[in-house]
Amino acid sequence: MPAPRPGRVLVGERALRSRIAELGAEIVRRYAGEPPVVVGVLQGAFLFMADLVRAMPIDLATDFVRLESYGSGTTSTGQVRLTHDLATSIEGRDVLVVEDVVDTGLTLAALRRTLEARQPRSLRVCALCDKTGRRQVDVRVDWVGFTLPNVFVVGYGLDYGGLYRNLPHVVVLERI
Ligand code: IMP
Repeated sequence: MPAPRPGRVLVGERALRSRIAELGAEIVRRYAGEPPVVVGVLQGAFLFMADLVRAMPIDLATDFVRLESYGSGTTSTGQVRLTHDLATSIEGRDVLVVEDVVDTGLTLAALRRTLEARQPRSLRVCALCDKTGRRQVDVRVDWVGFTLPNVFVVGYGLDYGGLYRNLPHVVVLERI
């Protein structure tokens, strides 16, 4: 069987740019006068977060967490571990979590529990991609960039075995 490789483009650069501009404008409206702490989930959200915060012309703060939920395969292990924590306190703050993909929802549900225990004033989530058809737990996502079918995607921050994060668009991983 051939090794999986990046195949067809699912979300191109132009679509990413215009959707992120829309998301940024919507999110800014929601936080009128009270800029949030934007928390990126490494590594997958690094490019999305970089573009999203540049579409949010307000005095926001940024921080990052790193979670481990996947090995080098394409299915969730169901185990989530915080391997890098926030540098700042979020108690009493408005927090916007920026995620790459919500798939089974296990990772985001665990992250929400961890962050909510720190008593932020509000906790909202913006995910670049949502694979609603694969959900195993019900988890709230406030803003979604693109709803995807049940396919494994790479590029624009998303990886397979540590590769392909630097592709400028979201593509389907295929066995070609
Ligand atoms: P969940 O816990 O199943 O919702 O998985 C969430 C995490 O799995 C995401 O933050 C990604 O890091 C990874 N993931 C899920 N689907 C994909 C995909 O299609 N491509 C790359 N990573 C994915």
